[in-house]
Amino acid sequence: MIVAVTGSTGLIGSALVRRLAEQGHQVHAFTRRPEVRFARPEVRAFVWDPMQGQPPEEALAGVHGIVHLAGEPVAQRWNPEVKARIRDSRVVGTRYLVQALSTLSPRPAVLVSASAVGYYGDRGDETLTEDAPPGRGFLPKVCIEWEREATLAEALGMRVVLPRIGVVLASGGGALERMVPIFKFGLGGPIGSGKQWMPWIHLDDIVGLLIYALENPLSGPVNAAAPAPATNAAFTRALAMALHRPAFLPVPPFAVKAVFGEMSRIVLASQKVIPKAALDSGYTFRHPALDAAMASVFP
Ligand SMILES: NC(=O)c1ccc[n+]([C@@H]2O[C@H](COP(=O)([O-])OP(=O)(O)OC[C@H]3O[C@@H](n4cnc5c(N)ncnc54)[C@H](OP(=O)(O)O)[C@@H]3O)[C@@H](O)[C@H]2O)c1
Repeated sequence: MIVAVTGSTGLIGSALVRRLAEQGHQVHAFTRRPEVRFARPEVRAFVWDPMQGQPPEEALAGVHGIVHLAGEPVAQRWNPEVKARIRDSRVVGTRYLVQALSTLSPRPAVLVSASAVGYYGDRGDETLTEDAPPGRGFLPKVCIEWEREATLAEALGMRVVLPRIGVVLASGGGALERMVPIFKFGLGGPIGSGKQWMPWIHLDDIVGLLIYALENPLSGPVNAAAPAPATNAAFTRALAMALHRPAFLPVPPFAVKAVFGEMSRIVLASQKVIPKAALDSGYTFRHPALDAAMASVFP
């Protein structure tokens, strides 16, 4: 199979590109940066800036499936410019991608276009399967628009899968990379009440699920989170245990708000997300339990 991957240099993208190449697939790896090189002969780099226009036709020609991951990082302090980039890199970028697909013949069979558990907003103890309505606020709105743009590819005869991704557990980046130094100093602790639910997924499983979505007849939203969601307190305990450090000190919500500003909503929000579509379709999670997943990230 030839697979195009946008956001190919990111936390998920780089692991996905590696796994696809290891499995013998050809990969068209999209990046905004012309200097990026991939070591493997199965991987060809193509330059595309999702905010600037459609990707080059040759990058999509002959491709069987696309995994669209590109987007401005969400976990940074927000201001109006950052929020515009978070939205536009996803919503406008996906629009340009689908526009390019509309003029292509033949077209890839499938578009797997990232979304996020941020779709659900802050939902307390409610169990959230894929048919739960969206939440309110900036991130739910971005996810709704992002998913809507990707879904337009269905009218082109493509199968569209929308993985709503939870917090990815990986040692080399993402949320954990930011938390680890604090925990190593013994300063980690539950955030706020610690009762908020955190949807998490091991890097192996998000990569596994993206490839599964390329190869199997899934469509529409697919919660990309492990089947055992954890409270923030349980998550904190598991991380501290894996790092052999204590995690006593609770972090009060005002401190999170002071550090992260409006973005603190992400860490304080509660989302009890269940991966119903993935389980119903037969996907088997390699890392279904939090403590073991954390131990595999920090052996
Ligand atoms: N990691 C998570 O925990 C998580 C959770 C939920 C959802 N997601 C979603 O899954 C997708 C992939 O996540 P990730 O963690 O792999 O992301 P990441 O590490 O931040 O990588 C995203 C990639 O997108 C490109 N990019 C960055 N800023 C951009 C901008 N302003 N415009 C266009 N492209 C830009 C970059 O590639 P180049 O610099 O090479 O162009 C970057 O490597 C993202 O859309 C993210 O929102 C991730």
